[in-house]
Formats: sequence, structure tokens, C-alpha cells
Amino acid sequence: MHCEMPMTVIDQPQGTLTLQTLSMPSDTNPLGDIFGGWLLSQMDIAGAILALEVAQGRVTTVAISGMKFLHPVPVGSLISCYSNLRSIGRTSIRIGIEVWIKDFKTHHRLKVTEGEFVYVAIDDEGKKRPVNEI
Ligand SMILES: CC(C)(COP(=O)(O)OP(=O)(O)OC[C@H]1O[C@@H](n2cnc3c(N)ncnc32)[C@H](O)[C@@H]1OP(=O)(O)O)[C@@H](O)C(=O)NCCC(=O)NCCS
Repeated sequence: MHCEMPMTVIDQPQGTLTLQTLSMPSDTNPLGDIFGGWLLSQMDIAGAILALEVAQGRVTTVAISGMKFLHPVPVGSLISCYSNLRSIGRTSIRIGIEVWIKDFKTHHRLKVTEGEFVYVAIDDEGKKRPVNEI
């Protein structure tokens, strides 16, 4: 029997909006587009905002994976970072992060970057601690 699965097109941001900012001329690479390292750092901050809530205290970034730069980002773009809690371990918190930009004239939104960030809950000495222990 031949069974065809319906194709699902997800064109909406996944997760909660945890950070918004504007890309500035000082954030560009030599080609005039936004520098990937700057975007990465916005994503790190966006994920940390959610991780801080989940951990109810200090966190630090331990790993980044699956980074994809999907489209160049022009100067003056509204940068929206969406954070999606994927799992909570003993000391770690896995968060999927997407960056979307929006064209103010057409209202068209475009996902430009995605990746997964892992944060570890830490105590005042910077040592790992169980997520639900403050
Ligand atoms: C984060 C840190 C406190 C972890 O201490 P550690 O003793 O190495 O901890 P572990 O190896 O036991 O890992 C802790 C948790 O992170 C997870 N983890 C560690 N490395 C990982 C990786 N590469 N990918 C995914 N998860 C990872 C572990 O699975 C563990 O999760 P769990 O407790 O929920 O099961 C320590 O490595 C550190 O201080 N790193 C520097 C962090 C930093 O400065 N970040 C800023 C970037 S410049």
C-alpha cells in the first residue's frame, strides 16, 4: 500500500520571543552584511534569558550545535530571537534558538539563523549545580 505523508511547512518562529534588537552598521562584515559572530552572541544572550528563568539563577553556556546561517542579514534589520526549551537535564538546559528578521514594508518575516545552545546552572563559585537547586 502506498501512503503519502502530508508535507508540513513550518513558517512560524518556534519558541518565545526573548530578545529584540536592531542590526547596526558597526555589526557588519567586510561585505556589508551582518557579521555572523554578532548574531551568535545575540542568540547566546536570548537563550540565556530563558535559561536564567528555568534555572532560577546563574547559568553559563557549555555548548553550541547545529548552527545554520540561512540568509544574509542587512543593516537596519529588526532582529527577533526566539528561544524554545527543548530539555532540562540534571545541570543542563537545552534551548533551540531561531533568529527572524522582518521587512517593515511587506511584513514578510524570514528565518535567518538557527542553532541549539546548552546552558549549565552554576553556583556563586561558577561550579555546576542541579537545575532545581538554588
Ligand atoms: C559549564 C561547566 C561549569 C560544566 O562543568 P563540567 O564539570 O565540565 O560539567 P559536565 O561535563 O558534567 O557537564 C555538565 C552538563 O552539561 C552537559 N554538557 C557538557 N558538555 C556538553 C556538550 N558539549 N554538549 C551538550 N551538553 C554538554 C552535560 O551533559 C551535563 O548535563 P547534565 O548534568 O544535565 O546531565 C564548565 O565546563 C565551565 O565552566 N565551562 C566554561 C563555560 C563558559 O565559560 N562559558 C562561556 C563561553 S566563553
